[in-house]
Amino acid sequence: MGANGAVTPTQGGILVLDFGSQFAQLIARRVRELNVHSELIAFDTPLSEIVARKPAGIILSGSPSSVYDADGPKPDPALWESGLPILGICYGVQLMAQQLGGEVGPSAHREYGPADIRIGDQSNLLLAGVAGGGGSARVWMSHGDSITKAPTGFAPIAETDSTPFAALADVTRNLWGIQFHPEVVHTPGGKRLLRNFVYDIAKAPASWTPGRVAEDAIAAIAAQVGPTDRVLCALSGGVDSAVAAALIHRAIGDRLVCVYVDHGLMRKRESDLLREVFANTLGMTIHMVDAEERFLSALSGVEDPEEKRKIIGREFIRVFEEESTKLGNFTFLAQGTLYPDVIESTSKETKAAQKIKTHHNVGGLPDDLKFKLVEPLRALFKDEVRAVGLELGLPESVVLRQPFPGPGLAIRILGDVTKERLDTLREADWIVVDEIKKAGLYRSIWQSFAVLTPMRSVGVMGDGRTYGNVLAMRAVTSEDGMTADWARLPYDLIERISARIVNEVPGVTRVVYDVTSKPPATIEWE
Ligand code: XMP
Repeated sequence: MGANGAVTPTQGGILVLDFGSQFAQLIARRVRELNVHSELIAFDTPLSEIVARKPAGIILSGSPSSVYDADGPKPDPALWESGLPILGICYGVQLMAQQLGGEVGPSAHREYGPADIRIGDQSNLLLAGVAGGGGSARVWMSHGDSITKAPTGFAPIAETDSTPFAALADVTRNLWGIQFHPEVVHTPGGKRLLRNFVYDIAKAPASWTPGRVAEDAIAAIAAQVGPTDRVLCALSGGVDSAVAAALIHRAIGDRLVCVYVDHGLMRKRESDLLREVFANTLGMTIHMVDAEERFLSALSGVEDPEEKRKIIGREFIRVFEEESTKLGNFTFLAQGTLYPDVIESTSKETKAAQKIKTHHNVGGLPDDLKFKLVEPLRALFKDEVRAVGLELGLPESVVLRQPFPGPGLAIRILGDVTKERLDTLREADWIVVDEIKKAGLYRSIWQSFAVLTPMRSVGVMGDGRTYGNVLAMRAVTSEDGMTADWARLPYDLIERISARIVNEVPGVTRVVYDVTSKPPATIEWE
């Protein structure tokens, strides 16, 4: 059992030694998609610790380093003799080759992008079913060094025009390696390859299913929280806090109290949705705080986006603290920390990962609140949180919703945030989302919403001229919010949204569509 009520069942799973590749997390995700637990661990974890966790197999990730770097990350040398099935990817296979007596040299040029491998023996355990007809398969490469001589005991199992060792294996010692990346979508047979390794080579059990994860998480929470302790949970309307609350409620029932601070910057019918789901359907104790006036007066006249964020963050903490004191004593505070956040903070310690960016979490709680933490999602990726949520009976309207920023609509109103402008935006935003849902596009789009600009523009309605607000619509596709592309919505959908907004939302005379990607723009307008 892991920290703060999180599940960590590595027994029989796949441990990924993290040498710092930006794809290391993705390897663990792909393995979990096969219903096998997988976790990242530090590249230099001693073999004794690895063995104690009884993994079915080990995957060595890639790395931004070269195996020549004197201070490049290296595993415990005892790993190679452990008898565990090992799959080395990119830097991982180069390490394997170099440390076991083969040779690695710099490639003539850095190989980056698609390549075609030729697979000689297609009954090979690792590569079975990976190639289409003709024994060749498209894969994705990203490396500067190449293996030039295989260690004793190893034989090549796939080649490309530029390397005879695109994949190699020592079947007797159960050591396997590939120069390409099976975890990325650009390697179409990658999933099959990982399946081959996980099931046919490592013989891992398929026990990581949403039902089991939920069961284990509930047991872990019950074990962490004492029999009389109470837990406080801030519901935000987002997926993470909703699923965390639902798990904790299953574990300790009414000793969980949820607080929902309505700062007046929420979307239309948000409070109704939460009341309906959590109080009426799930029977949870939920304390709704109407703090609209307080937030609006604190925001009055404020136009600077960062200033808005600061004010909202500060007021949120104050309201939350005031309300929680009214509700009695709590030993624990629930937090929706996810596995990627955990990896990020631990990989900083191991210094292996080159981290790209974290987002300031306005609307979150500070670290120094005097509670112990329950973090039931610490072991889970976002898609697993969603699967667990559905397993617990949470409705799709909560579990499959698009991300929404903590500062809410305040950062979607350019300029002054007033009740009137919020109401205008709420109505328009509702129409955008409603039409996108009706078109069946809601789930394939990362975020879709309306933005109220400070501009006014002339229009004509009936016989008269109008002068009203310019409203922008934004819809983006994205994998993780770090980069995004504007969604190519069908023109007739854009037309329906525009017509409805101008007809149904008083004060809006013009609708424009944002066609900027991120970068250079951000997803939100502020
Ligand atoms: P940007 O606008 O930076 O947003 O491209 C990336 C993702 O983060 C969300 N976002 C926020 N979330 N507090 C949050 O909790 C914030 O202050 C905030 N600003 C942006 C945004 O909705 C997108 O999903």
